[in-house]
Amino acid sequence: MTQQLTIRQPDDWHLHLRDGVMLESVVGASAAHFRRAIIMPNLVPPVVTEKDAVAYSQRIREALQSSGTDAAFTPLMTLYLTEQTDANDVVSAAANGVIQAVKLYPAGATTNSASGVTSIDKVMPVLEAMAAHNIVLCMHGEITRSEVDIFDREKVFIDDVLEPLRKRLPELRIVLEHVTTSHGVDFVKAQSSGMGATITPHHLVLNRNHMLVGGIRPHYYCLPIIKREEHRQALVSAATSDDKRFFLGTDSAPHTANTKENACGCAGVFNAINTMSTLAQVFDDANALDKLEQFASVNGPHFYQLDTNEAQMTLEKQDEPVTFAQQIDAGSQHVVVFDPGQPLYWRVASVSA
Ligand code: DOR
Ligand code: ZN
Repeated sequence: MTQQLTIRQPDDWHLHLRDGVMLESVVGASAAHFRRAIIMPNLVPPVVTEKDAVAYSQRIREALQSSGTDAAFTPLMTLYLTEQTDANDVVSAAANGVIQAVKLYPAGATTNSASGVTSIDKVMPVLEAMAAHNIVLCMHGEITRSEVDIFDREKVFIDDVLEPLRKRLPELRIVLEHVTTSHGVDFVKAQSSGMGATITPHHLVLNRNHMLVGGIRPHYYCLPIIKREEHRQALVSAATSDDKRFFLGTDSAPHTANTKENACGCAGVFNAINTMSTLAQVFDDANALDKLEQFASVNGPHFYQLDTNEAQMTLEKQDEPVTFAQQIDAGSQHVVVFDPGQPLYWRVASVSA
């Protein structure tokens, strides 16, 4: 008999939808599976004010319509924290229900992060206002000092920036976005409250050998960079452990193929299409299918203090590997779909209305 698994409909707590043609090209893939998503603000120019977030949210709704998507999908907006951010604007955006969180990019850490933060001191008044108003901070947790090796950037960030910030402002609720190391997992586990972490599907199935042995695979290049196998295993343990502090954030981040297959390729993996199949396979292989709902559909709303979804998703295990489109069109260009590098036997069979 076909094996089935029905869970509350999942949400994506970290998603890049971009803008314009790219937005129209990718939004349907996320809406087909996820009921809500935290939308990253690293557009060019970034989403920095309440007014920007209102306008971007409207463009996402229009793109849903023009791309013919009829699925219910709620974008949960974020603001991009800069050293000029006005605390009153952040508080107003949250009070008006326009935003769900604020995103901190260390300046220069990743795609479109040039307007990010060079020193926590410079944004302390905003962070204090956020703590006072219970507004979540999403953190890209990588140090950008040039002398720090790229594989150590998460660990050094945690030790030099995140830990001191937790001590200085323990009431501020923080998500360590796309955690990639055992150090990050251990740090989050040591925090009794106010701290969560998202985990991506690609960091659950890949280690750095997948990216670098036998040829360089630009479509696996993302930030934080994929780490050693022992770190991947720590992530799988955290995701499948029932620990409420860990939840799904796909970090689906489309770039056109020509900008990734390039002498200086962009960071980002477009995985919205096969995230749920990848996750079900990871949880199945770990004998933890009963924990998938916690990770994908329950722990995120719990951290963000929102209700879980009423709708349900049914996944089905097939005898043959599931096939996916290898690429999608984005105007005159195309985006390569994430290759999980192993057969996936689970497919999304249905999502209830
Ligand atoms: O790989 C990544 N791509 N990591 C990020 O932090 C940003 C993202 C993007 O926007 O392309
Ligand atoms: Zn991201």
